[in-house]
Amino acid sequence: MKPSILVTGGTGYIGSHTVVELQQAGYPVVIIDDLSNSQESVLDGIEQLSGIRPTFYAADLKDEAAVRKVFENHTLAGVIHFAASKAVGESVQKPLLYYKNNFLGMVHVLQMMVEYQVPNLLFSSSCTVYGKPDSLPVTEQSPIKPALSPYGNTKQVGEEIIRDVQFVHPEVQAISLRYFNPIGAHESGLIGENPQGTPNNLLPYLLQVVTGEREQLSVYGDDYDTPDGTCIRDYIHVVDVAKAHVMAMTRLLNKAQAEAYEVFNLGTGTGYSVLDIIKTFEQETGQPVNYRIAPRRYGDIDEIYANTTRANEVLGWKAQYGLPEMLKSAWVYQQQYQTT
Ligand code: UFG
Repeated sequence: MKPSILVTGGTGYIGSHTVVELQQAGYPVVIIDDLSNSQESVLDGIEQLSGIRPTFYAADLKDEAAVRKVFENHTLAGVIHFAASKAVGESVQKPLLYYKNNFLGMVHVLQMMVEYQVPNLLFSSSCTVYGKPDSLPVTEQSPIKPALSPYGNTKQVGEEIIRDVQFVHPEVQAISLRYFNPIGAHESGLIGENPQGTPNNLLPYLLQVVTGEREQLSVYGDDYDTPDGTCIRDYIHVVDVAKAHVMAMTRLLNKAQAEAYEVFNLGTGTGYSVLDIIKTFEQETGQPVNYRIAPRRYGDIDEIYANTTRANEVLGWKAQYGLPEMLKSAWVYQQQYQTT
């Protein structure tokens, strides 16, 4: 039997898909999640898909004693650290909440990894660290730009915290995965993205407009320097993102391969505009999307997409799903979720 992996935020959107892939690859999983942006019922979906109910702790990473208990109770081979607050706009309004949640949680995780000699860490980073890039596509060597929000800052500093810890604890090996825009859901429709309150991101909002929960989608700006004037992003299927985590953790566990600290972009390498997303969604699902052009949203950049050569060559990972599968799977989950 392979050693256990601790997944913080394992009932969340990317976390739950990753737990399924880990368990299907034979890794036992222990989850710690405070359920602040997910439900315990996600464990049912995970169990249905992988045949295994992961060990679950409903706890907040800010609670040091609770984190310690998990490390005390289990022999862990590695940690995948997803748990964090992630709404860009909210982080601007509540910076201290973001610094408290994202830094304190990470510090406790690293502290226990050092104390209990758990040497392998995967960190959820983001393409937000590149800010407004000077050239496209962005590679892992592209410059890190000043963060546009406290949320973005927590991702940049999170990567720095890992380096600082490694300076004195070289036994800790880590990989940061810089996600572009994960969307979609497991093809079964059993797990997916289920944001609490008003969605901030494009796809969850679009889906709620289509189901009639919200009236109209605002397309934030059509006067950007792009072919149709709307912003371009690199959307990637969440299952592809999840699979990359299994490959990256396997690389860490296979010590001979990994360097002490590595960074990988996770995207498809193709950019799509907001209008591309709407049109492709309509074509693939036959559902019309009620939208209007609205003013620009503060902090948005014109265009970003990834160079994924490093993940392709070093991890042996490549995104398998295209935009139609991403959008269809998101729609399947949305319908399923509504009926349960
Ligand atoms: N958009 C709309 N209407 C909406 C929501 C979004 O037009 O209701 C547009 C945005 O303006 C943007 C695109 O859709 O052009 C994608 O927006 P998202 O909010 O879905 O995603 P972002 O690219 O803004 O944010 C994502 C992640 C963040 C990360 C950021 C880095 O969600 O975690 O990329 O750029 F920090």
